[in-house]
Amino acid sequence: MPRCPDNNTLTPLLRKLSASLGESQAKNELRWLLQHVRTKLGDTGGSSASPHQHQSARLWREQPAPSALEIERSSVRLGSVQWSWLRQAVADRTERHKPLQYIIGEQQFGNLSIGVRPPVLIPRWETEEWMLRLAGLINAHTDAASDGALPKSATAPRPLNILDACTGSGCIALGLGSELAENSARIVGVDISQDAVGLAQDNLAFNRTLLSNHVEFRMLDLQQPPDALLAQLPVGESLHGCWDMIVSNPPYVTPAEYCKLDPDVKDWEDIRALVPMPPGTADPHHVPSEKLDPTGILFVVRLAKLAKELGLVGSDRSDAELPNAATLPRLVVEIGGGHQVEPVCQAMHDQGFNMTEVWKDMAGTDRVVLGYFKK
Ligand SMILES: C[S@@+](CC[C@H](N)C(=O)[O-])C[C@H]1O[C@@H](n2cnc3c(N)ncnc32)[C@H](O)[C@@H]1O
Repeated sequence: MPRCPDNNTLTPLLRKLSASLGESQAKNELRWLLQHVRTKLGDTGGSSASPHQHQSARLWREQPAPSALEIERSSVRLGSVQWSWLRQAVADRTERHKPLQYIIGEQQFGNLSIGVRPPVLIPRWETEEWMLRLAGLINAHTDAASDGALPKSATAPRPLNILDACTGSGCIALGLGSELAENSARIVGVDISQDAVGLAQDNLAFNRTLLSNHVEFRMLDLQQPPDALLAQLPVGESLHGCWDMIVSNPPYVTPAEYCKLDPDVKDWEDIRALVPMPPGTADPHHVPSEKLDPTGILFVVRLAKLAKELGLVGSDRSDAELPNAATLPRLVVEIGGGHQVEPVCQAMHDQGFNMTEVWKDMAGTDRVVLGYFKK
């Protein structure tokens, strides 16, 4: 058997990654790079390629770092193409601060593989976590509604019409589309960015067989004046009359927080995905600082108003149309933490929501605010 050249060992790569990421993260990332290189770039070891071998955003975070020996073992029998990909990946990660997911090109989200490419925001574990929790809540509602809660004469409940505002890669819309009970929802994801909508559409095509509900994507600026915006939201056409829920992970980073972000984020992900911009912003990199919202909740306030404009507050669904509608949140928004809870709840109450709820993420941070309207 020919001897491997000496430079085909992981030790220098692990050392390089450790110097920039710390040992534990370096080992974890090298494990994912190796898994990717073996499954996607032709595996001399023989296992078949599957996009679903990647870890969900949540599990990724929880997994303990592998030992150096485990890592070294998984490099056995890598070919020369795989070694050169690996070296380039480590250089990109350490010298250009390229996020691991952009190098690998995908991120697991629920049971879906979501393709990622710069500058569209990489789906985060916090978002995956609340999407799954929300899907559980909606499914419980759907079960209750079709399980005896209906009067005998009533027809089956219609699908819920859900708007995913600021859809990015489409992860939330697609995640709900796969987690929700079959044909219980129609989900429309919208975003201002052409890169985002193009990626979301690719992700829809890639995951189509795993979806049990209709999902579609459109390009739309949610900060347009209400009349122009409402004219572009397809209420009354394919959606049978009305929107039932807005879900969103909007931009919510404050300008002060943005300055302190790592280059992995700042140099690669769209600033418009992170910091809420004033309406009509053409060039988000050159907005005078006094025009930026110091609280980071500008976009959430816009969404609370949009919820009212779309009739999500102030009128209740009849029981025949949507049984137990009051038990469903009408607006579900991700936030940056406890500092945004009070102003976001206030913004929802100002628009007529009469109950709000806050969900924490598994790190204990206030992560989601849900607005309800109960008669
Ligand atoms: C935080 S990212 C969320 C992406 C995705 N939902 C996720 O959770 O990974 C916010 C998204 O809002 C979009 N966005 C920013 N301003 C917008 C606007 N005025 N109208 C519509 N979308 C906007 C950005 O393009 C970006 O994709």
